[in-house]
Amino acid sequence: MTESVKHLLAFLKSSPTCFHAVETIQKRLLEKGYTPLEEGRPWKLEPGGKYYVVRNRSSILSFRIPHGDFSGFQIAASHCDSPTFKIKENPEKKVKGEYLQLNTEKYGGMIFTSWMDRPLSVAGRVMVREAEGKIASKLVAIDRDMVLIPNVAIHMNRQVNDGYKFDPQVDMLPLYGDGSSSGGFQGEIAKAAGVSPEDILGSDLFLYNRMAGTVWGAKGEYLSAARLDDLECAYTSLEAFLQAGESASVPVYGVFDNEEVGSGTKQGADSTFLHDVLRRVCSALGKGEEGYYTALASSFMVSADNAHAVHPNHPEYSDPTNLVFMNKGIVIKLNANQKYTTDGVSAAAFREICRKAGVPFQTFANRSDMAGGSTLGNISNSQVSLNTVDIGLAQLAMHSCFETAGTLDVDYMIRGLTAYFSSSIQAVGDGAYTITF
Ligand code: CO
Repeated sequence: MTESVKHLLAFLKSSPTCFHAVETIQKRLLEKGYTPLEEGRPWKLEPGGKYYVVRNRSSILSFRIPHGDFSGFQIAASHCDSPTFKIKENPEKKVKGEYLQLNTEKYGGMIFTSWMDRPLSVAGRVMVREAEGKIASKLVAIDRDMVLIPNVAIHMNRQVNDGYKFDPQVDMLPLYGDGSSSGGFQGEIAKAAGVSPEDILGSDLFLYNRMAGTVWGAKGEYLSAARLDDLECAYTSLEAFLQAGESASVPVYGVFDNEEVGSGTKQGADSTFLHDVLRRVCSALGKGEEGYYTALASSFMVSADNAHAVHPNHPEYSDPTNLVFMNKGIVIKLNANQKYTTDGVSAAAFREICRKAGVPFQTFANRSDMAGGSTLGNISNSQVSLNTVDIGLAQLAMHSCFETAGTLDVDYMIRGLTAYFSSSIQAVGDGAYTITF
């Protein structure tokens, strides 16, 4: 197993929810000497300084100030949330007095069956009353197999292999314990948070798969783990951001929450978070409003979110001339209706960077008769508009509880994005671009 695959699997393990992912990223940035900034205090930024800022404990932006003047921003953005089930308020539900279930609802769009018949656990954030009028947030991750969503026996559901429609309110509720476990859930969460149950005033708790990631295949060419979409991009772009040398641009590393539910929250890619941070970088460096707009005109963004590899059982689901495979390099994603932001300009700039870095790349498009997914790039562009390319790594079973990707691609993405962060893409003004490596 390569070092980077080992580190990716550790990153995934320590990131059961978006909150934990941001905490994992924060730890890595602190280790590397980054200074935390708060949105609620004035910022003083120094040339050569390294900073990060967190919103809602579930989105994070980090940047470095070059020693000299800078021309623009060189951004890479990914997302840290994944489809799962959110635990509802008053979750305990008894069945015939003998079972205790947890009431949940869908967060994002998952493959239901992949969540069944496997041990699951619970993690997230609780809001705790610490004193009268004083509320603090605490992260919890129950580190034991805790619940399970059992399938119905085939003898009781003969249509299960013939297109059965799963009802999230009926078929997908996890079993937590027997009838005598009543009242136990809140207690277990409170214990994990180190507080008493009555002091929990609010919570954002989710089911998660705690099965460790693994490398497999004839030559160890595949890796499978939970939450590869999109923590694989969050991890690889973080490593690239940390490894990159100084350029004439401000490198910006961003990870956003809520991509799986449309990004429309105060901390999602459709919020003002990126805009606010870039604007404040400019004003802290004395560049003002005009400086912000001129910098944006010479800025570039990579929106990194995984892509669909050709499926071995269903190669016909892929576009006939843009076949994407695992271990064949960074995927550049295109869509005529701009669900992906990539256009001729951003594809050209990014391909030139990959070529210079010696990193393989490939091109993805949906079949023309399939809608495909979307991601955060085009949404972010409505707040901060700049040349953007949508990229990702090829994977199978997107939104499964256990997804599969290629082991070689981890290093390809780190190398490609290190070259990206070390370079500076500038618009010349007449539709031409220069890239300073
Ligand atoms: Co994604």
